[in-house]
Amino acid sequence: KRARDQALLDGHEFACKLYEHLLKHTEEGRKALDYLLSRGLRSEMIDTFRIGYAPNRRDVLTRQLERRGFDLELMEQGGLLSRSEKSGFMDKFRDRITFPIHDAKGRIVAFAGRAMGDAQPKYLNSPESPIFNKSRTLYNLHQARPAIRKENTVVLFEGYADVIQAWDSGERRGVATMGTSLTDEHARQLRRMAENVIICYDGDDAGQAAAYKALQLLEPLGCSVRVAMIPDRLDPDEYIRRHGADAFRGEIVEAAVPAVKYRLIYLRKNFRLQEEDGRLRYLRQAAGIIARLDSATEREYYIRELSDEFRISAEAFRQDVNETRISRQ
Ligand code: CTP
Ligand code: MN
Ligand code: MN
Ligand code: MN
Ligand code: MN
Repeated sequence: KRARDQALLDGHEFACKLYEHLLKHTEEGRKALDYLLSRGLRSEMIDTFRIGYAPNRRDVLTRQLERRGFDLELMEQGGLLSRSEKSGFMDKFRDRITFPIHDAKGRIVAFAGRAMGDAQPKYLNSPESPIFNKSRTLYNLHQARPAIRKENTVVLFEGYADVIQAWDSGERRGVATMGTSLTDEHARQLRRMAENVIICYDGDDAGQAAAYKALQLLEPLGCSVRVAMIPDRLDPDEYIRRHGADAFRGEIVEAAVPAVKYRLIYLRKNFRLQEEDGRLRYLRQAAGIIARLDSATEREYYIRELSDEFRISAEAFRQDVNETRISRQ
């Protein structure tokens, strides 16, 4: 079993080197390289994240693996190759940009392959295998861990491009889940490394809903969670390219709002705040969220903020909050 896992790891490392070479030093890698550069990816990042290109051919990798004596059946189980009745083994990733995925120890255990055009799916990910478990793996953890530990804070992204662009902007605490939503296992793993989590998901509706879910998962584990809010439905990668590194770190990451504040904002979309009835029902629910805060000072802070905004008496709203607290005891 040990030998099998080692062979799979060797196969992945070999494939990564080949894809890197094909991206940087061949004619067929040219358009992939152009694509990456046109997306604002600097060549230094291509090296740091070991990005590569799997060409539009049936069996470049297959033949190289075979020549070096790799067990092709095993490589298929590991997700590097696929197999058909008719034509035997062939490369799994074809005409895609390749992002190697490392485990916590820094060994390559899988790939994500991004299509350059409109080919579906946009990202093709390696299947689970003896060396790759999606619900435990966090992209870039092996490189981000020192900064996460040192600053007791992790920054959680949705996508590969976000982690990479953020890294280039100086944000070294970034990791991403593997195309799935945050799992309980991911959350526990993060909690073991750092107390503070900054969720930095996409600014679109899907991203904001996912942020809310992640928040609900992380807080019960004792994480202190903040949520970054990106305007104009941009994702972190797009925001950085449009507004620059300083704006990203200063106005997005540093300005991430506390969990309670995020809940209060997120809740709004369920109510018609232009209407009196909607406003009152929103305030009812908001009182419930504020009531859950342990600190009286914090409760007071949000009571004032909302009563100012909605022009109601702070006293009356405070009373609602306190009644919610009492009825819960
Ligand atoms: N994802 C995936 N498979 C897909 C689409 C998305 O695994 N078909 C995962 C990828 O990890 C991706 C993340 O979900 O990075 C977030 O998805 P999305 O926001 O749609 O992609 P981006 O990361 O913004 O991708 P890009 O910038 O390359 O378009
Ligand atoms: Mn080379
Ligand atoms: Mn998204
Ligand atoms: Mn995105
Ligand atoms: Mn994107």
